[in-house]
Amino acid sequence: MRKGLIAGVVLIALVAVLIWFMRPDDVQTGEAPPPLSAAPQNVIEHGRALVNLADCQPCHTARGGAPFAGGRAIPTPFGVFYSPNITPDPDTGIGAWSAEDFWRALHNGYSRDGRPLYPTFPYTNYTKISRRDALAMFEYLKTVPAVRQPRREHELRFPYDQRMLLVAWRRLFFRPGVYQPDPHQSPEWNRGAYLVQGVAHCSACHEARNALGAIQSSTNPAGGLVLNWYAPALTSSREAGLQHWSEADIVSLLQTGRIGMSAPDEPHAATLGPMAEVVYESLQHADPNELRAMATYLKSLPDVEFSAEPRRMRISSAGLAGTMKRGAKLYADHCARCHGDNGEGKAPAGPPLAGNRAVTMSSAVNPIRIVLYGGYPPGTAGNPRPFGMPPFSPTLTDGEIAAVITYIRRSWNNNAQPVSSTEVARNRTGPLW
Ligand code: HEC
Ligand code: HEC
Ligand code: HEC
Repeated sequence: MRKGLIAGVVLIALVAVLIWFMRPDDVQTGEAPPPLSAAPQNVIEHGRALVNLADCQPCHTARGGAPFAGGRAIPTPFGVFYSPNITPDPDTGIGAWSAEDFWRALHNGYSRDGRPLYPTFPYTNYTKISRRDALAMFEYLKTVPAVRQPRREHELRFPYDQRMLLVAWRRLFFRPGVYQPDPHQSPEWNRGAYLVQGVAHCSACHEARNALGAIQSSTNPAGGLVLNWYAPALTSSREAGLQHWSEADIVSLLQTGRIGMSAPDEPHAATLGPMAEVVYESLQHADPNELRAMATYLKSLPDVEFSAEPRRMRISSAGLAGTMKRGAKLYADHCARCHGDNGEGKAPAGPPLAGNRAVTMSSAVNPIRIVLYGGYPPGTAGNPRPFGMPPFSPTLTDGEIAAVITYIRRSWNNNAQPVSSTEVARNRTGPLW
């Protein structure tokens, strides 16, 4: 913890020095025509659909609070952020903002008063949104009920609470710019790229971030840690990559949150944690044409092999054999009735665990979290009454959970690294999703 803080301070100092060597970058970029979309019939309706795909509401709404009135806590390695009120209330929301103010926030990451904004607000993705689309979103937001609710201050650790350091951060890691269509690709691919990279900001969760919270996909192909879950890489078919899936399966996963859970030989996936919320709040309501365009683009992403296995647990082969034996017993007692004696799954409730990349991917964070806290896939029109996974944190010890997860990661031709009780213990702490 202390070391991390010192490293943070040193890095920030380095950044501050670096900014002297860098020229100003905050140029407004020109407008580019948004790819493949007819002139909207109804600007507000167009804006509403975009705001839905951009997931603005869940992040700007406290649990049980008024829509868009802010106050949702967003825990990060830098401290807790609280989203501000973006309803049209003139005093506490954005009711006094002009369209130009709004565009500057979304495209350039500046608040109305000129303060630079933290990239927890994913303007590093939203900068790709066309001006016309951004202004339609603003028109829609003007129609939601105004709510008086003052903003809550973020609770950030030093030095991250020093907002002006964002000036340096931006110079290093942010270039504003609307999405530029690739002329060698189809209009549908370009539409999908525009949505995935910009509006739906998938990379904000699915790509690794450096120590200063900037996405660095060029140097690190791994997925990202978000709200204590691991968002697996969309650029690896061993993680969340959809390169080998049919377009129909991709659309179905994004729309229903769950697919092929009863047949181990088909692609299967359940969306959990933050991804379940993305499906529930946003993707299930999206126009199927938009989802198809996203599928076209997602299928075309490179499929990168990377080894993200720095954490190699030291365990003797006798120790491992003992753990596997304990794990097998625990599995038979607690899991087999839903997931099958051999991890083959049991329709309709339990997904297969054999050959399931959510179990075998190198990060063990998600299997640990789901066994600890259980979970439900989102209830969607296509999967209205989802079966849940019960939580085991009250009944099993860290050692037992480590053993049963090690067992499912290394049985039935699964071949992933064992999990230690320390890693389970680490995931017991921290805010829940
Ligand atoms: C992942 C969570 C998240 C999402 C998604 C998100 N925001 Fe935010 N937003 C924030 C946070 C946190 C801040 C505060 C940033 C700061 O204090 O620097 C913020 C700030 C803002 C601001 C500046 C408000 C002010 O008073 O300065 C606007 C405007 C805004 N968001 C609009 C939107 C819109 C529109 C969308 C959807 C297109 C959106 N946000 C999506 C978290 C989010
Ligand atoms: C708020 C963070 C967040 C955002 C935004 C997000 N994801 Fe995810 N996603 C996750 C997490 C965490 C997981 C891992 C849990 C799981 O498997 O559902 C995940 C899992 C996935 C999976 C793997 C499902 C499986 O089990 O194989 C796919 C595919 C996926 N996301 C696609 C997308 C796409 C496409 C977008 C953009 C439209 C997106 N995600 C946006 C956090 C996010
Ligand atoms: C009552 C039935 C039930 C029991 C008992 C159960 N599970 Fe589950 N499990 C589920 C369901 C349903 C899901 C899918 C949840 C979802 O989609 O969010 C699931 C999901 C999972 C996943 C994530 C799979 C994926 O594709 O994302 C893992 C890993 C898992 N269970 C492991 C276990 C282990 C280990 C045990 C025993 C300690 C266990 N489960 C006991 C029903 C059960």
